[in-house]
Amino acid sequence: MRFNFFVILLTICLGSMIGKTQEPFKAEIDSILNLMTLEEKIGQLTLYTSGWDVTGPVLRENYLDDLRQGKVGNLFNAHTAAYNHNLQKIAVEETRLGIPLLFGYDVIHGYKTIFPISLAESASWDMDAIERSARIAAIEAAAGGLHWTFAPMVDIARDPRWGRVMEGAGEDTYLGSCIAKARVKGFQGSDLASNNTILACAKHFAAYGAAQAGRDYHTVDISENTLRDIYLPPFKAALDAGVATFMTSFNEYNGMPATGSKFLLQDVLRDDWKFDGFVVTDYTSINEMIPHGVAANLKHAANLAIQAGVDMDMQGAAYADYLEELVNENSVSISQIEGAVRQILKAKYQLGLFDDPYRYGDTLLEKNLILSNGHLDAARDMAKKSIVLLKNDNQTLPLKTSLRKIALIGPLANNQDNLLGAWAASGRASDCVSLLSGIQEVLNESQILFHPGCRINGEETDFSEAVSIASQADAIIVALGEERHMSGEAASRSSIGLPGSQLELVKTLSALDKPIIVVLMNGRPLAIPWLDQRVDAILETWFLGNMAGPAITDVLFGKYNPSGKLPITFPRNEGQIPIYYNMKNTGRPFNATDNYTSKYLDVANEPLYPFGFGLSYTSFRIENINIFDSVLTIYDDLVLTADLKNNGTVSGEEVVQLYITDKVGSLTRPVRELKGFKKIFLEPGQSEQIRFEIPIRSLGFHNAKMDYVVEEGAFDIHLGNSSTNTVTKSIIVQ
Ligand code: GLC
Repeated sequence: MRFNFFVILLTICLGSMIGKTQEPFKAEIDSILNLMTLEEKIGQLTLYTSGWDVTGPVLRENYLDDLRQGKVGNLFNAHTAAYNHNLQKIAVEETRLGIPLLFGYDVIHGYKTIFPISLAESASWDMDAIERSARIAAIEAAAGGLHWTFAPMVDIARDPRWGRVMEGAGEDTYLGSCIAKARVKGFQGSDLASNNTILACAKHFAAYGAAQAGRDYHTVDISENTLRDIYLPPFKAALDAGVATFMTSFNEYNGMPATGSKFLLQDVLRDDWKFDGFVVTDYTSINEMIPHGVAANLKHAANLAIQAGVDMDMQGAAYADYLEELVNENSVSISQIEGAVRQILKAKYQLGLFDDPYRYGDTLLEKNLILSNGHLDAARDMAKKSIVLLKNDNQTLPLKTSLRKIALIGPLANNQDNLLGAWAASGRASDCVSLLSGIQEVLNESQILFHPGCRINGEETDFSEAVSIASQADAIIVALGEERHMSGEAASRSSIGLPGSQLELVKTLSALDKPIIVVLMNGRPLAIPWLDQRVDAILETWFLGNMAGPAITDVLFGKYNPSGKLPITFPRNEGQIPIYYNMKNTGRPFNATDNYTSKYLDVANEPLYPFGFGLSYTSFRIENINIFDSVLTIYDDLVLTADLKNNGTVSGEEVVQLYITDKVGSLTRPVRELKGFKKIFLEPGQSEQIRFEIPIRSLGFHNAKMDYVVEEGAFDIHLGNSSTNTVTKSIIVQ
């Protein structure tokens, strides 16, 4: 007998009338579960990629047969209202119970209106702008028939060789936690029942960014203290913001792949944190427990995953192929299966899919909302706020539009595709405005001289054409960097200099002895010591998405005063890696007068550009720093005020950063840690009092017993505009 959607609806109504329940949708879910076969239950724990987009090794070709038999309840990499409507129609009308599908996709930094890559957005330190970016991404994704994004990626990353630094919020736990919260709020909005909010997914749980040597998918080997104090807090911040789902990471932690880790998925996530959503694996990460060497075969791997607490198997078909056998042999209980099914059905209820399976995806909304002027304006705003001014000798920038001739040279000057960055969902190169097009909006044709100079990753040695063009100009803008797929997944680089012959190009141009402004477009910190020494100005513009050209132009010509601050350290060379600001002091911190202290023979210890660094076209001064009470208990707040003054001649924004140092701990503590920041806009000459209220409880760490503690003693408080440019005060915690 076929149970179609209406029979199930009737059952639900009866079920929900029987008794009010304390858990959301419990009665409805109970009703459905009673109707489901074991195979259908396992189908709800299965997620396959559609044929539309591929983001990993495809194991399952013919998912439509499985869909019709109720063996798959969730799809990803399927989108647009029409495409998903047709798939939903199969699920609702052609399966026995008509349970609606859940559609997921990697909407990381935009669905169709592509915003700056996540690392770039993080450089804005502007939580409202970051939340708005995620909100717009959700609105567009929902119009495109999507219910769930595999974002935010909240992996702390301290190694720029790792390609996925582009996808997260950089190296700092506090900044990363603030951004995780902003992104979850943006994607999920205030009500998941609204059809322009989508489930978010905190990934990759956990410590994926600690891959050894920055090589993607490599072994992670960190202490539990480092896990708990550095890598876990952004996940907890996402959970506290209400994130609906978690994704397990490919890597092992403490000898067990995260996908089979009871410590991570049960002890931490469920028991300690009380997470009440569902856990999906990363792409075939159940299967990968075999090469990891903890599973003899896929049945064993499936058992490890379900016992650890994985609810949904992404693309591995391990649950589809082995859970029934495991239940029949009593290795896995029905209640374990049903516990996972409940979480997934609950998510579908929260989205309203049982009321109306077609409530997401609307061709009219797609047409009116996607790439709307409002969304593109927001993308331009986010892009310009993400730009970091790394160098500006002799106030080379901003350029005057009255300049007679400006040369625009470089392989990224007139390029659209790379502006998208990695993980650009359904973004299109054709929707991106190149830097050349952006500049053409503000200069007339006769002023601009363009030449690509070389390829991004070429071996050119003859730059004579570019040089002859540049020799006619009053200033030379050189657009250099990486291809978009030189970062992202499976895109680690062992050397992080400018690829190809780009450095030779800019060296050749520098012989012209004209002002040179380098515009970097890249997905990771680059080792650019020569540029730092020898060019006049450097703008870090990352990959800024659709509106890159206009946003960079706004900054180049002073329409917007750059306000970005680095969310990740720029090393001088690969030999310094890992290098991050909140390192430990060691027993032999560098001392130039003592040979036997921590140093290199061939490079300084300091990075090229530190965490939190970024210049402005104006200058700010922080003064009158006042700590209200310098003797505090763990129940108090540290209250600090200071005056920020714009000393310059143009308006601008400054990010005032507050760091702390726990001077003596029962375990070694970082030399400093970010605990607060404020981004303030000031007109020239304007001054504003800023106030920090930092709970003393937030200054703690996990001690040797893995208890979170704030220990008594002296703390230094550092206030400034980067992790290295600060003024220090002291307090005592007792
Ligand atoms: C990839 C990524 C993950 C992504 C998933 C689906 O392998 O690791 O971040 O969400 O597969 O595309």
